[in-house]
Amino acid sequence: IQVGLLFGGRSGEHEVSIRSAAAIAQALKTEDNAQKYDLTPVYIHKNGIWEGGETAKSVLQQQTPPHSEGSGNLWDFPPEATQIDVWFPILHGPNGEDGTVQGLLTLMQVPFVGSGVLGSAMGMDKLAMKTAFAQAGLPQVTYKGVNRDKIWSSPCVFPKLCDEIEEEIGYPCFVKPANLGSSVGISKAKARSELETALDEAASYDRRIIIEKGITAREVECAVLGNDDPQASVVGEISYNTDFYDYETKYTEGKAELYIPSPLPDKIFKQVQEIAKQAFIAVDAAGLSRVDIFYEEATGEVYLNEINTLPGFTMTSMYPRLWEATGISFPELVDRLIQLGIQ
Ligand code: ADP
Ligand code: DAL
Ligand code: MG
Repeated sequence: IQVGLLFGGRSGEHEVSIRSAAAIAQALKTEDNAQKYDLTPVYIHKNGIWEGGETAKSVLQQQTPPHSEGSGNLWDFPPEATQIDVWFPILHGPNGEDGTVQGLLTLMQVPFVGSGVLGSAMGMDKLAMKTAFAQAGLPQVTYKGVNRDKIWSSPCVFPKLCDEIEEEIGYPCFVKPANLGSSVGISKAKARSELETALDEAASYDRRIIIEKGITAREVECAVLGNDDPQASVVGEISYNTDFYDYETKYTEGKAELYIPSPLPDKIFKQVQEIAKQAFIAVDAAGLSRVDIFYEEATGEVYLNEINTLPGFTMTSMYPRLWEATGISFPELVDRLIQLGIQ
């Protein structure tokens, strides 16, 4: 079976994608997997050009983007792309995790790992996912959606918008672009002036903005695997000393610690697993997802934060580590995901 490993991509999470792909490529080389699968790496340059062959192999090996950008026509796919039996897109963020690539692969009529167009699109946009979660009756913090035009092009509307946010959400609040990842463009606002800056900042990244009530809570994550009858892994927990789990905390060695499994009370642990599965179903995800949840210790409440349909998949990422702790090794996980994609 020819597995097309599709990685890189046109998003700020390009480098993480390369590292995720390198780990998956490694897992395909184990004896059991090598008997079943042949790996064909296909790299998507930062400018969107697809390239296979030696370039893709060397990016995987070096784990850094090549010196020169891709050249040629956006619609010229490398010749080996026509030989693929199943694609494994491991692209994080916009133009990869959001249904766009999934739409292309659907049109190519080749099966692929992970969620389809709908699940990917719903799981990318924080407002869309929250609407689906609310519909499914899942617990979430109070939130409000707003479009960029209210922030930028109408000076008389802006103060009114801030008044509304103060009334409906209050401080502290989190302001986020709806369609990004890795905490990019997210700010925590504790007063009016910070709210104004935060809205402006978020609007520079996305047309759709979400404002949420800020809570003080433990952050736990659960991995989900399957299609129509998904399974939940053990729950993991993240702890850090910074104000919130921002970009720097996420990607600076030693700034955050992972606890697997999380020392949550038993009842909460099970509740988190149940919410994770329901969140997966609510957005129509498939294959894999990591669901991020808050546990507010002071009140005992659990709030669903978000779903990531193509979570980080490096050797040290939460998703594969949660499955390892549940009894599924990294290579076995990759095998299962490919089989779920072919189904
Ligand atoms: P991303 O998709 O970029 O990971 P998140 O919605 O997960 O964005 O937010 C990033 C981080 O910001 C979270 O991990 C958490 O630390 C903090 N955060 C986000 N929303 C809230 C909230 N409503 N209350 C408290 N902390 C939050
Ligand atoms: N967006 C990053 C890769 C994650 O969710 O793990
Ligand atoms: Mg997150």
